[in-house]
Amino acid sequence: MNFSDTPRDPTVPRHVAVVMDGNGRWARKRYMPRVYGHKQGVDALVRAVNAFADRGVDYLTVFAFSSENWKRPSEEVSGLMGLVLVAVSKYLTKLAGDGVRVRIVGDRSKVSNKLREAWEYAERSTAHNTRINLSVAFNYGGRWDMVQACRHAMLDGVHPEALDEAALSRYMALSFAPDPDLFIRTGGEMRISNFLLWQSAYSEFVFTERLWPDFDETDIDAAIQAYRQRDRRYGGIPTEELVPQGI
Ligand code: FPP
Repeated sequence: MNFSDTPRDPTVPRHVAVVMDGNGRWARKRYMPRVYGHKQGVDALVRAVNAFADRGVDYLTVFAFSSENWKRPSEEVSGLMGLVLVAVSKYLTKLAGDGVRVRIVGDRSKVSNKLREAWEYAERSTAHNTRINLSVAFNYGGRWDMVQACRHAMLDGVHPEALDEAALSRYMALSFAPDPDLFIRTGGEMRISNFLLWQSAYSEFVFTERLWPDFDETDIDAAIQAYRQRDRRYGGIPTEELVPQGI
């Protein structure tokens, strides 16, 4: 099905980025292992991707595993890796049928062949979808992204004089997407944690105490409502101080 012909509401963010924090605490509160919280986190993600799509969001980018998450206990790291395979087999057909295009962004060199093949299968089998673009950042870090973009530009022989912001953007992991308009972090912490450092230069931030497995449509509507109330200035002056032309 092609969903792209519906006119979009300009007050809805086109691209939303999410740090899905709080899975561990959600599980601990229930005396369950942290990986159980991540499992619930996957279910929350599948619900969220449809809810964001229903509201007219075109791109959803989520932080599933950071370059720094390797420091976690080995059973949590392997639990998260295993969860990817489970998630692909459990949800890929549904996501594909729901018009979701899945992409994985991050350093694939360190993940197992099995995982890489599962990602590639997910990307291939949803490549024709247009309702919403879901990018799962896995083994991703904002600093890694900038370094890999510079390296690839150099390998392509881009001359230093030609390397401006637009040129470097073409080498960033999310080169196919506009910059995130709205950046949400659940779980109560107020930091970026090396997520989309380059791309979030002018994003609007919404921090919520809600733990990711509990993040639902009410929270999505509240975040979009908060976004609507922001005056995006991109370094300019407040809208109400702009002098109309001709005065
Ligand atoms: C942060 O919560 C969450 C993560 C490090 C992982 C998020 C991953 C998922 C929701 C699963 C996504 C997986 C796929 C396959 C798309 P935390 O563990 O830091 O929680 P805490 O702050 O309560 O300890």
